[in-house]
Amino acid sequence: MLLRSPGLLLLLLSGLRAATQEKEVRAMVGSTVELKCIYPEENSFDLNDLYVYWQISGSNTVVTYYLPKNSSAGHENNHYKNRAHLSLDSMKQGDFSLSLQNVTPQDAQKFNCLVFRESLQLGKILEMEVSLHVAANYSLPVISTPSSESRDPELTFTCRSTNGYPRPNVYWINETDNSPLDKALQNDTVSLNSQGLYDVVSILRIPWTPNMNVGCCVENVLLHQNLTGRSQTERSSGTEGRITETPDSLQKEDNVVIFITLALLLVSVIVAVVIYMGKSKCPHRNYTGAQAATVVCELTGRG
Ligand SMILES: *[C@@H]1O[C@H](CO)[C@@H](O)[C@H](O)[C@H]1NC(C)=O
Ligand SMILES: *[C@@H]1O[C@H](CO)[C@@H](O)[C@H](O)[C@H]1NC(C)=O
Ligand SMILES: *[C@@H]1O[C@H](CO)[C@@H](O)[C@H](O)[C@H]1NC(C)=O
Ligand SMILES: *[C@@H]1O[C@H](CO)[C@@H](O)[C@H](O)[C@H]1NC(C)=O
Ligand SMILES: *[C@@H]1O[C@H](CO)[C@@H](O)[C@H](O)[C@H]1NC(C)=O
Repeated sequence: MLLRSPGLLLLLLSGLRAATQEKEVRAMVGSTVELKCIYPEENSFDLNDLYVYWQISGSNTVVTYYLPKNSSAGHENNHYKNRAHLSLDSMKQGDFSLSLQNVTPQDAQKFNCLVFRESLQLGKILEMEVSLHVAANYSLPVISTPSSESRDPELTFTCRSTNGYPRPNVYWINETDNSPLDKALQNDTVSLNSQGLYDVVSILRIPWTPNMNVGCCVENVLLHQNLTGRSQTERSSGTEGRITETPDSLQKEDNVVIFITLALLLVSVIVAVVIYMGKSKCPHRNYTGAQAATVVCELTGRG
């Protein structure tokens, strides 16, 4: 062996300590993540010479471990039992990475990997720390407008989004000019649900404004993701105006268009009927109140 003197071993260990890397890993809830812990040089290891520990930094929580000759097993923390695995084949090649299945929000911890060799008087040959960040996608925010009584001087919007991680930031937006609304107008309630994920309800109260459009933006800082739900309200309607309605002014124009269209339709139907009757030589002159129709009928009658 190269390492005959303790001095040389110390030198090697301090060198390693300087090289100890801290890594950051991100995983989605429910996924499987690999926390890397790899011996820097090409190497081949004898499994009977290795002691490998994965634990939570700053606590004595054991995630999983490997001991030579399978001497004693079963001291893993229950939280990690059957979810944390080492690969014996990879370890022979110096890869002590941990595979962690079915990631939960509670796994957002710093993990510590320690590798010792029996042949080096149980000298530590590798130490690595991996920070696991856990994320879950928030649901698309849904805005509801409680059917406000028409005399209410305030508009109240409620925005809901569920099953996200980590804790969200909620912003309300004035959709008219895309400007952010004052944070003081909103009241957020963030709660942890039974799955350990966050649900958020944000209530916005603003002075009544006609045709007010707002957006509710839920930010997941870890995923660099902003999800925005949109709403619009009408003062008169008692419906739960969650999805956009056409604004009043436009609706009035629409009504006029519809009226004209209907009127034109009615006239053309009458004309068609009269033409038809004209072809049968206008036998039914007693058709009421349609002077124009009579004219057309007479014209076709002449031709
Ligand atoms: C370790 O020993 C247990 C029983 O004590 C056995 O079930 C298991 O397969 C062994 N594992 C290895 C890697 O040899
Ligand atoms: C998160 O959700 C949004 C919309 O619901 C979707 O577009 C996006 O792909 C999702 N991202 C992940 C990582 O699941
Ligand atoms: C939203 O923006 C419009 C246009 O800038 C402005 O007139 C209105 O007062 C704003 N509403 C609120 C509640 O800030
Ligand atoms: C926010 O809502 C909670 C629960 O409805 C209430 O207890 C609290 O007083 C509200 N805070 C503000 C500033 O309106
Ligand atoms: C999300 O919105 C916030 C507030 O408007 C902004 O600071 C942030 O940069 C946005 N993030 C992304 C990814 O768009």
